[in-house]
Amino acid sequence: MTKIIAHRGASRYAPENTRSSFELAYQLNADGIETDVQLSKDGIPILFHDEKIKRTTRKKGYIHEYTYNELKKLDIGSWFGSQYIGETIMSLEEFLLWVIDKPLLLHLELKNNVFDYPRLEAITYNLVERYGLLDRTFFSTFSTRSIQRLNKISIDTNIGWLTSKSRHQLPLFSRALGANAIHIKYRLLQPKLVQQAKTENIPLRVYTVNKPKQILRCFQYKCDSIFTDVPDIAKTTYQTYL
Ligand code: G3P
Ligand code: CA
Repeated sequence: MTKIIAHRGASRYAPENTRSSFELAYQLNADGIETDVQLSKDGIPILFHDEKIKRTTRKKGYIHEYTYNELKKLDIGSWFGSQYIGETIMSLEEFLLWVIDKPLLLHLELKNNVFDYPRLEAITYNLVERYGLLDRTFFSTFSTRSIQRLNKISIDTNIGWLTSKSRHQLPLFSRALGANAIHIKYRLLQPKLVQQAKTENIPLRVYTVNKPKQILRCFQYKCDSIFTDVPDIAKTTYQTYL
């Protein structure tokens, strides 16, 4: 069965990458949660999508220019709705503590393709390992250098290569990079690629899929997982597919 992974939590209904959006994803029976990891100025892994803080905080600057304590003071809920005023950035550690007793898969995207955060891979991996969550954690990245660094840390890591570009024999190319799964933008989803991934036994995961027709297509192609802002719609769509 295609797994339904809540993209930045249930981010259509609650501010992305917050405890509220993760909690809602869990209540909506998502199979897992996708979130984005960056480092604060003082090297603490935190969950935030954009490199710039403006869109969800209305403040200036970049994540890596703020210490963890400074980031913790930012309000990342009010842009979305007044009921979310006071929602704060979560550290990766807070997120792991929240998820540890819940049967959710973890998809951690390492946001190192714009700024190459020093030791982002090792810091993230070590924390996940410390909480005993490696067996249900999937690391992903757009950065090929990051894939190499993850492989140096451990050869058993679940690593998905994120890509929006079409390529000849994408599954073989991804494997050569050191990834063991491909995370593709929806528009790359074509029968040929599905077949190649199947032949190479490489899981195919698709982002970001919110329309029922597109969700259904991912189910029909038996994709490994979809990333969606609307896990409830994906669940309902699954019922029509059965
Ligand atoms: O995991 C896929 C997806 O999250 C990648 O795109 O920009 O939403 O992080 P983005
Ligand atoms: Ca992401």
